[in-house]
Amino acid sequence: MEISVIGSGYVGLTTAACLAEIGHRVLCADCDLEKINSLKAGRLPFYEPHLDDLVKRNVSSGRLEFTLPSAAIQKGEAIFICVGTPPLENGEADLSSIESVARLIVSSAHGYRIVIEKSTVPVQTAKRLWKHLSIYNANGLEFDVVSNPEFLREGSAVEDFFHPDRVVVGAESSRAIALMKEIYAPVLRTRTTCPVHSQCPSMPEPKLILTDTNSAELVKHASNSFLAMKISFINLIADACEAAGADIEKVAEGIGSDKRIGQAFLNPGIGFGGFCFPKDLQAFVRIGEKLGCDFSLLREVEKINVRRTEQFVAKIKKELWVLRGKTLAVWGLAFKPNTDDVRFAPALNIIRRLMAEGAKIRAYDPEAMQKAKLDLPEVTYCESAYQAAEGADAVLVLTEWSEFREINWKHLGELVAHSLIIDGRNLLSAEEASSNGFQYVGVGRAAAQPLRPTGEPKWTEAITAELPVASHPLSASSQAPPIA
Ligand code: UGA
Repeated sequence: MEISVIGSGYVGLTTAACLAEIGHRVLCADCDLEKINSLKAGRLPFYEPHLDDLVKRNVSSGRLEFTLPSAAIQKGEAIFICVGTPPLENGEADLSSIESVARLIVSSAHGYRIVIEKSTVPVQTAKRLWKHLSIYNANGLEFDVVSNPEFLREGSAVEDFFHPDRVVVGAESSRAIALMKEIYAPVLRTRTTCPVHSQCPSMPEPKLILTDTNSAELVKHASNSFLAMKISFINLIADACEAAGADIEKVAEGIGSDKRIGQAFLNPGIGFGGFCFPKDLQAFVRIGEKLGCDFSLLREVEKINVRRTEQFVAKIKKELWVLRGKTLAVWGLAFKPNTDDVRFAPALNIIRRLMAEGAKIRAYDPEAMQKAKLDLPEVTYCESAYQAAEGADAVLVLTEWSEFREINWKHLGELVAHSLIIDGRNLLSAEEASSNGFQYVGVGRAAAQPLRPTGEPKWTEAITAELPVASHPLSASSQAPPIA
């Protein structure tokens, strides 16, 4: 099918390249001419695993082209709207880019178009879009409006496109449903190969969920809010683990082993970031207010998340006392691994707070340093995790890049001023750190205790909540030399 994708950001570019890969002819458009020219020259505006190859392959096969929106709209029978919906000051999504695309559709297109809303939007937007298209429809365009939310995670977006759990289609005409089925047919079959796997692992067939547009739009906001809620929940439990002397890794395993709950998104840490969860949660709270529904549950989710920065800074101060003049190595800047995206990244908030207290930051991230430099030019950016650690009073793990897991502890020990790791993602092994002479502080991991070999349990020892964690006789931090 001839498809236009309007918007060449994370969602638009990935969707365009993947649709081309499954056989459609795709025109990917953006109103930023510089961006289009640089895409034509083969330069991607962001890092996403496998996307570079996918774009190159489909451009050279002629299935993927880059152009301006009006040219794309004139050609594609299906038009995917993938423009940004950034937050306004009051937390609501700014829909002005969607409105501009709608105007362009009715002024540039002829015949029939299926207009597919993929950007994350408030419930009832498709209805408004339909009304808007009807009002400005000067050329007698025939059209359907469909809501087709995306569930692509940055860092694994290509894999998610080819192996979705579900494809949600909110459509209210049989013509639109038939076209959507045609577009997604290659994805809805169980795959044996894809651009990510030479032999795909066996996975259940993706579900096609057909519904009305309002329901499809709600699926998107509700999914992101639910996942955000799971993260804030486990972060609360991690706090309880630290206070009570329990181990969050085991607690999360215990909770997540219940099939009704599931293990995913139970990793505690410095909180969720990125351009989706924080803004979508805020927007959903505003939507709830407008609908007259009490969404205070989600407000708490947000509050818990905002508190994570302060709590992590307090954890650092507990170990280092005064931060003025201290050198801190920061490992990881991106809001999650396998991306260069630093928008609403918890790492950047933490760095800002630490610098405000007078700490000197030496940072390293495998992909995100160029983007972080635009926000935080005062930081010293380093070429490796080891270089960042030189002379550091503590190493802070703020993004769980797998290369940090491969660290050579001996070499690290020779570089740092003090052997202290504060792991905001529970990436490293506490045991390995302490056996290599490092003091290790994680999240919710305060009381990983050895098994008592024999004898009756000593109930008095079990009541650790009354003891400050750092001075508990069995805590990892008490085994390391004190920080001067
Ligand atoms: C999220 C959703 O997972 C996608 O399904 C959705 O399509 C996308 O938003 C979107 O709306 O476009 P993404 O923001 O790329 O994807 O990243 P996630 O993997 O969901 O992680 C979000 C944040 O939560 C990250 O900062 C991550 O570090 C944090 N997180 C995640 C945790 O702190 N703990 C966890 O257990 C999982």
